Amino acid sequence: MSIAASTREPPPPGATPHPLGALGVVLVAAGRGERLGADVPKAFVELRGRSLVEFGVGVVTSLPHAGHLVIVVPESRAAQALELVDGILPEHSQWEVSVVHGGRERHESVRFGVDALPEAVDTVLVHDAARPFASAALFERVIAEVRRTGDAVVPALPVVDTLKRIDANGMVHETVDRAPLVAVQTPQGFPREVLAAAHATAALHSEPPTDDAEVVQRAGGRVRTVPGELRAHKLTTPEDLPILDSFLTANAVGPGGEA
Ligand code: C5P
Repeated sequence: MSIAASTREPPPPGATPHPLGALGVVLVAAGRGERLGADVPKAFVELRGRSLVEFGVGVVTSLPHAGHLVIVVPESRAAQALELVDGILPEHSQWEVSVVHGGRERHESVRFGVDALPEAVDTVLVHDAARPFASAALFERVIAEVRRTGDAVVPALPVVDTLKRIDANGMVHETVDRAPLVAVQTPQGFPREVLAAAHATAALHSEPPTDDAEVVQRAGGRVRTVPGELRAHKLTTPEDLPILDSFLTANAVGPGGEA
C-alpha cells in the first residue's frame, strides 16, 4: 500500500550507522479530526504557517538514528505529504521516508504503516501527528526502554485533577482514586513482532482500541511506562490550539519541532 517513497542518497562513506537494530516510526496523520471541526484533516492544521505533520516529520528525522519513517495520511493528502518531506529532509539524511494511505480507524492506519516498514526494522514507534511537540528526548526515552526490556512502552503523566464518576445526567456518584491512574501519550514503542502480531488480531474486537498499547494488551502483551511530558499535548478540540501555540511562544521547540 506504499504509494511513493522519498529517500535521500545514502550517507557518505565513513558515516557510522546507528549500532542498534533498525528503527521504524509510524506517524499517523490520517484522522479527520471531527472534534476539532477544522476544514482540513487534523494533522494538516497549521500553527504559524506549518502543519502539525510537518513538525512531527521534523522531530523524527532529527533523531540521531538511521531509520524508516512511514507517514500515514488521507489519500487526498499524499502528494502534499511527499512534498513537505522533500522540503524538510536534509541531503544525506539517514532517514528513509514513505507515505501510505490511512484506514477508517486509527488502528487500521497504524497497521498499514507497520506493514509498509522494511523487514529489517525491529523496533517500532507509533506517534500521533496530532502531538506535534513531543520532544526528541521523549522519543529516545521510549526507544531505550523498549530495547532494554523487550516490552511495549508508553509515555505516561500522573493525573492531577480530582476524578469523579458521573451518570448520564452529569450527577456525581463517587470520587475515583487517581493514585493508580495515568494519562498516556505517544510516541509508544514496541518490538516490531509484538506490535504486528497484536494488530493482526485487533479487528476481532468490537470496540476499536484508542491506542496501540491497548492493542498489545488485548493480545496478552506487557506494557510499561516511562515519564511523559506536557509538551506532547494532543490537538483534539479548538481549545488545544492556544495550548500548542504557547509551546512555540515559549520557544520550547526548535524550528524543526525538535527540543
Ligand atoms: O482522533 P485522535 O486524536 O484519536 O487521533 C490520533 C492520531 O491518529 C491523529 O494523529 C490522527 O491523524 C490519527 N488517525 C489516523 N487514522 C484514523 C484516525 C486517526 O491516522 N483513521
